[in-house]
Formats: sequence, structure tokens, C-alpha cells
Amino acid sequence: MDTQTPLVEMQDIHIAFGGVKAVDGVDVDLYPGEVVGLLGHNGAGKSTLIKTLSGAYRRDSGSIRINGQEVAIENPRDARRHNIETIYQTLALADNLDAASNIFLGRELVSAGGFLDDDRMEAETRKIMNRLNPNFEKFSAPVKALSGGQRQSVAIARAIYFDARVLIMDEPTAALGPQETAQVAELIKQLKSEGIGIFLISHDIHDVFDLADRVSVMKNGQLVGSARTEDVTKDEVLGMIILGKCPPGATPGPGALDGDG
Ligand SMILES: Nc1ncnc2c1ncn2[C@@H]1O[C@H](COP(=O)(O)OP(=O)(O)OP(=O)(O)O)[C@@H](O)[C@H]1O
Ligand SMILES: [Mg+2]
Repeated sequence: MDTQTPLVEMQDIHIAFGGVKAVDGVDVDLYPGEVVGLLGHNGAGKSTLIKTLSGAYRRDSGSIRINGQEVAIENPRDARRHNIETIYQTLALADNLDAASNIFLGRELVSAGGFLDDDRMEAETRKIMNRLNPNFEKFSAPVKALSGGQRQSVAIARAIYFDARVLIMDEPTAALGPQETAQVAELIKQLKSEGIGIFLISHDIHDVFDLADRVSVMKNGQLVGSARTEDVTKDEVLGMIILGKCPPGATPGPGALDGDG
């Protein structure tokens, strides 16, 4: 993995709201086919950091490289042009519309005559859902009739249909039961195998530890540290989240407690 160019490198990102340093000099990166868990307490700055990548917020300073090239991300359209897609916790689905209408909402396929090409959107929807979630059958139901896991797969389908290389998922399993969480975990493994890089954001270590190749932990807007999940235990990562204490298997950031803690 070290020989590859990172999909995303965020360096020394700063963003403040009035006097509050929401993100204060954070570095994170992401490689193809990798899941990086972004962890930290409520208010740690996770969503704010990731919104500078998705184009929802403009960073005050710091650089973002995509495939080794420095890029300007000023708005969500810029992010999309760099194949970065975001699934927010709310999923933002249109409840009364079916899967195909949701996947193509705002980006509808049209025929040569300029009419909505419903047949093609339906066929493309079957193709992508078959790839993501072969058990999915409710193609004509409004998405409000779907389970949480099925809704999540529609949201993922919408994100990756347009060639996402980087997927940002903010608390994807927070509202799901165990069975549906397992379903989303399967989806994430499938996306990994296709070389998509995923930032998985959560305040709960149990949501991400088993899925993540690496974790980066934030506290008070700063990076406590980053680690490969094979080099640290869950308890050690909890110590990073709660105390800001960086274990030997992790690389400390500016937010790590000094000394022996
Ligand atoms: N638009 C905004 N205006 C003012 N302050 C903001 C704004 N967005 C975030 N903040 C502040 O920035 C800090 C970081 O918030 P952020 O939402 O990034 O945390 P988080 O780690 O995502 O937390 P959570 O786990 O609750 O989602 C908090 O102090 C928050 O109040
Ligand atoms: Mg958040």
C-alpha cells in the first residue's frame, strides 16, 4: 500500500467559527481500497473536517491533494468533480420516491429527445443494486417502505453510480439494528474490493473498529493520532478518544497528551 499514491491527503487543515477552532491543524489521508475510521467525541470536529473535503465548508488554511495533485474544493460541485461523494447521517433520500428516482434525483438520465429516460434509469438501478445488494427486490416501492439497511444501500448506490472514488460516510450505522449493520458492513467490503476509499465517521468505536484498516482520532479540533487497527486495541483507541492518550502502536498528532499521560 505504501507504493500507491493516496487518494486523499489533507494537511494542516484549519477552520474556525468565530473564536472556536473547530479543526485545528489536522492531517489525514486515505488510500485506494482502504477504510479510515475518523473517531472522536461529539464536537471533536469530525464532521467539520470532512465537510472541507465534501465542499460543504471552505477551509481557512491547509491543503488537500487528490491523487497527488493539490486541488481547490470550494463547493460540493468541486468535490464531485474529484469523484468525492458524501452520505450524510440523514441519508437525504426523498421518501415518497422509489430507488431509481432517488439514485438519479437531480442527475436524471434523459433520452436523445430530452425526455426522462425512465427505462434506462430503472435498468441502471437494477444493475447497480445487483452489484451492491443482490437481495434487494423492492424496486418500485417508495424508499420510506424500505428497511434502514436497504435505505442505506440506495444512498450508497446514488453516491457511487457517478463514479465515486472517495466515499465519506457520516455515522452510517448509528440508526441501524445488528442485522442491518451487518448488511452495511458487507456493502463497505464490496466497495473496498472495487478500490474505493472510504472515510467512516463515528463517535462510537464499535461502529468502525472492525471495518477500518486505520483510525484517526480527533479531540478538541486536533488530531490525537492515527494507527493501523492491527497495531492497537479497542481499549487503546478508547483511551485516545476519551483521554487523548496515544498508545505505542499509533503515530501521535498535535492533540496527543504529552509524556506518560
Ligand atoms: N456551522 C457552524 N457554526 C458554528 N460552529 C460550528 C459549526 N459547525 C460546527 N461547529 C462547532 O465546531 C465544533 C466541531 O463540531 P463538529 O460537528 O465538527 O463535531 P463532530 O466531531 O462531528 O461531533 P458529532 O459527533 O456530534 O457529530 C463544535 O464545537 C461545533 O459546535
Ligand atoms: Mg458530526
